[in-house]
Amino acid sequence: MRILDKNFVEFISEKEIADIVATMASSINQDYKGRNPYYLVMMNGAFLFASDILRLLDVDSDLAFVRYKSYEGMSSTGELKELLAIPDDVVGRDVIVLEDIVDTGFSMRAFLEILKSKSPNSVAVASFLVKPEALRYDVKVDYVGRSIDNRFIVGYGLDYNGRGRNLRSIYVLE
Ligand code: IMP
Ligand code: MG
Repeated sequence: MRILDKNFVEFISEKEIADIVATMASSINQDYKGRNPYYLVMMNGAFLFASDILRLLDVDSDLAFVRYKSYEGMSSTGELKELLAIPDDVVGRDVIVLEDIVDTGFSMRAFLEILKSKSPNSVAVASFLVKPEALRYDVKVDYVGRSIDNRFIVGYGLDYNGRGRNLRSIYVLE
């Protein structure tokens, strides 16, 4: 599959994606039973993952979208821009951050610092994918969907220069 100037091949199928999401949802349902978590969805990348997992989460909850940007093209810029801020009403709440992928960990690390300054009761991170070889910042991911090699991927919310987010499978750079 061609996206802009690059070729990609299928890497994680729709069926595998659904299985991963279902497994993550049952862990969260179990751990948060009887509680009232507050989900923060990291836009734009996590929008499909969030819409799938939220429909499988059956605990009472609140939800907000946040947007912080660190990526340009195929690499991290090392700077976090705030485009849509964390709401103040996370104070005292059990926050669950829904993220598409933790790569170097820079974005999540910087985001968690900002989140902690808003005094939530607890914070957990649920990331659909992680790239352990790329991790350079100390970030604890509480719910990991799947670990992958340090390769560039698109689809299921993830983009290459704005393209490919709507793809139903995940594709890897050939
Ligand atoms: P980090 O700050 O290096 O951990 O990168 C964080 C963000 O970059 C992720 O939340 C994604 O939105 C984006 N990103 C990281 N790796 C990829 C990839 O392989 N494809 C597309 N986007 C990616
Ligand atoms: Mg992201």
